Amino acid sequence: MTSQPFNQNEKDAIYRVIRERRDVRRFKADPIPHETIRRVLAAAMQAPSVGYMQPWNFILIEKKEIRQKVHAAFLKANEEAKAMFPGEKGEKYASLKLEGILDCALNICVTCDRQRFGTVGLGRTHQPEMDLYSTVCAVQNLWLAARCEGVGVGWVSILKPEDLPPILGLPENVVPVAYLCVGYTEQFAAEPELKTAGWNPELVPDELIFWDQWGQKKPQL
Ligand SMILES: Cc1cc2nc3c(=O)[nH]c(=O)nc-3n(C[C@H](O)[C@H](O)[C@H](O)COP(=O)(O)O)c2cc1C
Repeated sequence: MTSQPFNQNEKDAIYRVIRERRDVRRFKADPIPHETIRRVLAAAMQAPSVGYMQPWNFILIEKKEIRQKVHAAFLKANEEAKAMFPGEKGEKYASLKLEGILDCALNICVTCDRQRFGTVGLGRTHQPEMDLYSTVCAVQNLWLAARCEGVGVGWVSILKPEDLPPILGLPENVVPVAYLCVGYTEQFAAEPELKTAGWNPELVPDELIFWDQWGQKKPQL
C-alpha cells in the first residue's frame, strides 16, 4: 500500500509540471538519452486504461525517410486545412508553426490496439471508444513526464487518418492516436502559443464549472 501523503514540495512539483507543460514545435536536434526515454515511456504506461486494457504501443521513429513521409502527409493535410479558414483567420493559420517533425530528436506514434485482450472488454461493452480515451491518458502522462525531464513534446494531428497506417506498417486493428514530436528545446513558452498568437482566448474557469446540471452555477468555487 502507498497511502503516504504528498508533502508540499511534491505537490508544488506536480502542479508546476502541469502548469508548465507546453506543446513544443521548435526543437534542438540533441539526442535524448535512452534512460530518459525509458522513464518517460514507463510513466506513459502507468496511465489508467479501461478494463486494464493497456491498449497502447509506442513507435519510436528516428529514420529520416519515415519522417519525411509523415512530413509530406502533414504538408498535404495542412494545405487543405489552410483553405478551411477563410479571410484573416486563414492568414493567421498560415503564419503558425504547427509541427517539428523533421527537426526534433525523435517522433513517437502512440497507437491503440482496439482488440487487445479480445473483442469484448470490461468497460467497453457500451462505449467501445474508451480504449482510445485510455490511450490519450497515456499520451498525457508521457507529455508531463517529458516536461519534468526538460524534454518538449508537440502533438501533430494535421494528418489524414488514412496516411499514417501504411507509412508505419500498422496492423488492421491498430490505430494511430497521437503523432508526437519529441526533443530538447531552447525554451518552454510561458503560455500556450495559440493563446499568445490570438488564435483562441484562454477560457475563464468559473465559466466552465457547473453544479448538478448544465449551466447551473454557484458562486463559492
Ligand atoms: C489532441 C491534440 C491535437 C493537437 N494537434 C496539434 C497540431 O496538429 N499542431 C499543433 O501545433 N499543436 C497541436 N496540439 C497542441 C495544442 O495546440 C496545444 O495543446 C494548445 O494550443 C494549448 O497549448 P499548450 O499545450 O502549450 O498548453 C494538439 C493538442 C492536442 C491535445
